[in-house]
Amino acid sequence: MNSIDAFRHPRARTDDSLAERIRSMVRVKELSERDRRRVLMHFLALEDSDRLLRFGTVLPDELITRYVQKMDFSRDTVLGVYDSKLTLVGVGHLAFAPREALPLVTSATIKERVAEFGVSVSDSARGVGVGSKLFERAAMHCRNGDVDTLYMHCLASNQTMIHIAKKAGMEIHHTYGETDAYLKLLPANPASVLQEAVEEQVASLDYTLKVNTRAAVKFLGTLPGFKGE
Ligand SMILES: CC(C)(COP(=O)(O)OP(=O)(O)OC[C@H]1O[C@@H](n2cnc3c(N)ncnc32)[C@H](O)[C@@H]1OP(=O)(O)O)[C@@H](O)C(=O)NCCC(=O)NCCS
Repeated sequence: MNSIDAFRHPRARTDDSLAERIRSMVRVKELSERDRRRVLMHFLALEDSDRLLRFGTVLPDELITRYVQKMDFSRDTVLGVYDSKLTLVGVGHLAFAPREALPLVTSATIKERVAEFGVSVSDSARGVGVGSKLFERAAMHCRNGDVDTLYMHCLASNQTMIHIAKKAGMEIHHTYGETDAYLKLLPANPASVLQEAVEEQVASLDYTLKVNTRAAVKFLGTLPGFKGE
């Protein structure tokens, strides 16, 4: 059973130590061009209410498709969490912009660029730490990329996201039903660079293992007398 699949087990929701173990097993991987189709499937599976929280409006399928088609994996950083069936259950999008583009943070930094973060987690994988892990990894990536200000925009009604932002120590500003938050990041150091590299390596190995397991199960399923899932 995969970490995220395990959390779906009713016992996990009442067992703190099990939940904690599962949280520690969430792997965040940097996504690339070849993940584009799965990113699209992830967004299209979001309910209207989640689309509203993620994009600030209930984006119809056509606009989501256009949004994903235009995603630039070389300019932005897109982070993801896969479950054992290689379904993308969490996507974090880190876009970089000149600091003048985001008035709230313009005076908060002297760096040329700031980062804006958007995140979504599939309904079935919520509450296991996927959103928080994506956020933490995004913050680490910024820090290691000499960006010291991470900005986030969400609806003021988005209590879950505001909880995550507060937990991370973000400075939060509420205006007319919307919330802007930003986090000042420490400069990179050898430990933060190493930590990100190790996390990415582990997530890549985890992904490869899932791909190979799936291929093996598929192959075994073609053998007479073998019953797969
Ligand atoms: C917001 C979202 C990304 C969170 O993902 P997640 O994987 O469930 O988040 P996590 O499991 O890491 O953390 C959720 C935290 O919020 C808390 N929480 C859940 N519901 C809450 C609520 N109504 N009020 C306050 N806190 C809440 C949980 O207890 C948990 O806190 P903990 O880590 O201190 O125990 C997910 O709900 C989502 O995709 N929502 C729709 C899109 C969206 O809102 N995106 C954010 C705007 S960019």
